[in-house]
Amino acid sequence: MICLAGYSLHKTYQDKGQDIRVLINANLEVQRGEMVCITGKSGCGKSTLLHILGLLDDPDSGRVIINSAELSSRHVNAHKIRNRDIGFVFQFHYLLEDLCARENVALPMLIAGENKAKAFKEADSLLELLNLQERGNHYPNQLSGGEQQRVALARALINRPSIVLADEPTGNLDPHHSAEVWELMFRLNRDLEQTFVIVTHDRELARQSPKTYELKDGMLY
Ligand SMILES: Nc1ncnc2c1ncn2[C@@H]1O[C@H](COP(=O)(O)OP(=O)(O)OP(=O)(O)O)[C@@H](O)[C@H]1O
Ligand SMILES: [Mg+2]
Repeated sequence: MICLAGYSLHKTYQDKGQDIRVLINANLEVQRGEMVCITGKSGCGKSTLLHILGLLDDPDSGRVIINSAELSSRHVNAHKIRNRDIGFVFQFHYLLEDLCARENVALPMLIAGENKAKAFKEADSLLELLNLQERGNHYPNQLSGGEQQRVALARALINRPSIVLADEPTGNLDPHHSAEVWELMFRLNRDLEQTFVIVTHDRELARQSPKTYELKDGMLY
């Protein structure tokens, strides 16, 4: 079953009177439980594509389908879908510095309207799953880069989204911490059948993923 698709996606930016054509008929389909990697040169439009698929931005034309519904960032329920159905992990973790790890992880569930007890119980069990149980009360500046990124992953997972979109989740990490985060994503995909779409520069890792697209000249191959 297809849980995420983009069809005939076009996106052009205007910059100083010039058109920058970023997506030119980009198409992709992601099945439930799949792990899909997207590679491509810097500036080719990977983040643009992920933002469009995650309803953070809209294409100039084309369709985005999430769990059988055609959607855009302007859809009345877009904020709910972003909160509940889509988990985001970015290159920089964007954890809130004033909140400890477990508060950061619990936040999307609290925003979704769940009570505190349930949100913190869930946050604790995810932190345990990601081997961070000892770090729950640490603030982001007290965590290593790999730990911060695992906390960001836990936050992306807390509402059990149907899809996790990750934009170079290990781009900012050294090889050791990078491997740690990749192993985790592979494990979540294998054991929990979590669907992932991951943008990465790391072709070697992308090769380990069962399905990889290359974004080139505005199209996905
Ligand atoms: N808001 C914007 N206005 C104008 N141009 C933009 C805008 N956002 C992105 N671009 C341009 O569109 C192109 C694609 O950008 P994008 O961030 O999607 O690339 P990317 O593949 O994610 O690159 P990287 O691997 O470096 O993160 C780039 O040339 C970028 O400069
Ligand atoms: Mg990018």
